[in-house]
Parts: sequence; structure tokens; C-alpha cells
Amino acid sequence: MKNPTTRRHFLMSAAAVGATHLSPTQTRGLAPSGTLRTAHIGVGGMGSADLTSIASHSAVEVTALCDIDLARLTGAHAKYPRAKTFRDFREMFNNLENSIDAVVVSTPDHTHAPAAMTALNHNKPVYCQKPLTHEVFEARQLRRVAEQKSLPTQMGIQVHSAAVYRRAVQIIQQGTIGKVSRVHAWSHKNWGYDGGAISKQHSVPDTIDWNLWIGTASMRPYIGHELHPGNWRRFIDFGTGTLGDMGVHIFDTPYAALELTAPKWAQATCRQPTNLGHPESNKIQYEFPGTAYTTETLRWIWHDGTFAPPTAQQLGLAEDLLVPKQGSLFVGEVGTLLLPHVGEAQLLPIKQFQDYQRPTVSEDNHYHQWVEACLGNGSTSASFSYAGPLTETLLLGVVANRFPETKLLWDAKNLQVTNSADATRLLRREYRDGFSVAGL
Ligand SMILES: NC(=O)c1ccc[n+]([C@@H]2O[C@H](COP(=O)([O-])OP(=O)(O)OC[C@H]3O[C@@H](n4cnc5c(N)ncnc54)[C@H](O)[C@@H]3O)[C@@H](O)[C@H]2O)c1
Repeated sequence: MKNPTTRRHFLMSAAAVGATHLSPTQTRGLAPSGTLRTAHIGVGGMGSADLTSIASHSAVEVTALCDIDLARLTGAHAKYPRAKTFRDFREMFNNLENSIDAVVVSTPDHTHAPAAMTALNHNKPVYCQKPLTHEVFEARQLRRVAEQKSLPTQMGIQVHSAAVYRRAVQIIQQGTIGKVSRVHAWSHKNWGYDGGAISKQHSVPDTIDWNLWIGTASMRPYIGHELHPGNWRRFIDFGTGTLGDMGVHIFDTPYAALELTAPKWAQATCRQPTNLGHPESNKIQYEFPGTAYTTETLRWIWHDGTFAPPTAQQLGLAEDLLVPKQGSLFVGEVGTLLLPHVGEAQLLPIKQFQDYQRPTVSEDNHYHQWVEACLGNGSTSASFSYAGPLTETLLLGVVANRFPETKLLWDAKNLQVTNSADATRLLRREYRDGFSVAGL
């Protein structure tokens, strides 16, 4: 568990440096009443599930709801009628600065960083959906500011807290399959788009604030359900393709188990870029420096779309073995671990591990973990200190799909692709006028 951050830690460290910047809300701390007043940005789709899961903690009082889509906002408000409602999260912070304690961000990917950084700038703990950000630079900055302020944070990779995944981490770290030399990870999903420019244009429904939906990205016309809701994933300006969508869950266990840091390079095999939609099928390779749980280096191979699932033969497994549609495979010196998304790990070859006693691991509630950390109890397991580097790694792979078959050499310390100025430029983008955020 890297850099655990708790609300109590936050309050203590803030006090240590002179807490003059703290709002009355924060000094009120953990609410002597023991209540955590939450604000939710994006309350449709996954935001609705996030809202229910956070609110299921008895200390939570849902205080503010924000969504650019009135239909979605109204639906959430019906469930939490005491909450104040907003279309623009900046207005929400201006109005409720002192009445909210913590913030949940469940918007499309391109708005994660602007919303989460605005919350951090107001000294609010943040639960942010995955992937942490849309750009590599944003992930670096969110991590930096969250650490500087010691605010409790959590990225929304809820399976990180599931017993099956936590058990897989232990099995690997016990050395059960020896040092790992190679990881394959895959998802059959296709969050790509290979159509040409979309020329059709629809009038924006009265219920949607399109200017706010576009937010920091470049303005483009409303095109019905091609973007909102959900389909923004396919487009490079808003989503992060299948790798950013599913890869962040499926990469998570190997990344945590092997205690990986930054890769040395990333290389994509995919169609030529159109600069509009993500490729429909990607194979992305990475090489990582070795850790205590790997051989001298670790090769990591991601497959999605029609490249997934890889065949048992491609994975070096017995041909009759059923490869799940989504999952990962750890190839160790003395055995192999197959981890379906989401399911119990299988140790291979079966005969070799038939007497192996699996560690007992309990289920944890990822959402409540964050609420408890905000309340000063315990710490989060996917804080921005963990989620930042994981997201940077994934997003480097997303950048690689703009340069098929080019090995992008990564200098994580200096946030640079050393052999491509064009790739380095894609690590950060200009925010649209009127949407700048301090720190990004
Ligand atoms: N952890 C998981 O298992 C999981 C599952 C699904 C989605 N997600 C993540 O959740 C996020 C949302 O995905 P989704 O499928 O629900 O998308 P969606 O488009 O269905 O929903 C996004 C919601 O955010 C609202 N919104 C958009 N821009 C906004 C803004 N500027 N301010 C306030 N509200 C805004 C939309 O109106 C909508 O209600 C994504 O980051 C996605 O990766 C996570």
C-alpha cells in the first residue's frame, strides 16, 4: 500500500505546516458529528452506481449533485432530494465551498482531471473514476497535489479491493510461480472508432449543457448519442479507448502484485491513426525494469478488440484451456497464473499446484475504504500515489497507438518520450479558453 493518506493524517500535516489555508469545513474536520458531506460530479451511468455505493455508508450525507444533463440530474435528485443541484461544478464549489467535505468524480475521462483538481484546489478529498485522467501530465499533477496536501484519494477501480484480486497479489508475492518474466493482459471489448469525420449534427436538447460537457476539450458540434452518454470512450479527445477503459482494471492486479513503476518503453501494433477515434484493435507491448517479483526486466503485452482474447497457444498454454474474454496471465519461472476479469486465479499447470493452499483474504469495500479514510480511519488502497503512475503507464500506451510500430522510449522522471517530440506533445493538451484550472 503506497503512501496511504487519511483524513486524520491530512489534518495533522496541515496543522503542522500552519493550517491557515484550511476552510472551516476542513478544520471542522471530520465532522465531530461524524458526518461526511459529499458532492458528486457526474451522476448518470457509473456516477449513479458511485452515488449509491458512497451513500450506503452510514456517515455519508449526500449534499450536492452536479450534472450537465438535466435528465440525469433530476433522476439522482429524486433519490437524494435534500442535496443541492448544479450543472457546472465550478459554480458548485463557489457556492458550497464550506458545506461539502469530499468529492466524487464520475464524468467522462476528459473531465476527470479538471474536476478532481478543482476539488483538490479546494482542499477536498477525492474519489475519482478510472482512468485517473485523460492525459499523462494530468495524472502527474493530480498525484503531486494530492500528496502535497495529504488528502485522502481513491481511484474508482473497485475490483482492486475484491478478495479474488487481493488473493492473486498475495499468491504472486509469496513467490508461488517464481519470478515473473511476462504478463499478458486482454479485453475483447472494442472502444475504437474507424469511421471518418462525423458530419451529421443535431440540435442540442434543452436538457444538456453541451458547452460544459465539452469542458476543457476543443468545441465540436453535438452529434446525438455518438458521444454522450458513454460513446465518448471511442474518441481520442474524450476517452482513452479499450486500454484506458478496461486496461486500467485488468492491468491493476499485475501492476500492484509486481510493484511495477514506470516502463522503459511502449510500442503499439494497430491501424494507422486517424486522429479522431481510437483504433478498434490494439496490441501494446511494454518493458519494465525488474522488481523484487520479476526477472531482470518484465515484458507486458496488452491485447484488445480482435486481438483478444489471445489463443491458448499464443499464451503458451495447453490448447484445451479455455481463455476468458478478459483477464491476465502471469508467466513465472516455475508456473503460470491465469486471472480472469473478474474471477478466482487459476494456477498452471494444474497438477503441479493441486495441493497448494490459497491464502485467505477478505473482501473490502473500495468505496467505504475512502469514506473511512476521509473520516480519519485507515487508508485507501488506490490513492492517487498508486493510481497516478498506473494511469501514466496506460496512457503512454494510448499515446503509442498514434505511432504504430514505433518503440516510444519513456523518461518518466522528465515526462518525456525521448525519441519523439511529437509523442511528447501528446502528453499534455491546451485547455479551452475559459476552462483553465490551476495546477493543470
Ligand atoms: N469503475 C468501473 O467499473 C466503471 C464502470 C463504468 C464506467 N466507469 C468510469 O466512469 C466514468 C463515467 O462513465 P459512464 O459510462 O458512466 O459515462 P456516461 O457518459 O454514461 O456518464 C457520465 C455522466 O457524467 C455527466 N457529465 C458529463 N460531463 C460532465 C460535467 N462536465 N460535469 C458534470 N457532469 C458531467 C454526464 O451527463 C453523465 O451523467 C468514466 O470515467 C468511466 O471510465 C467506471
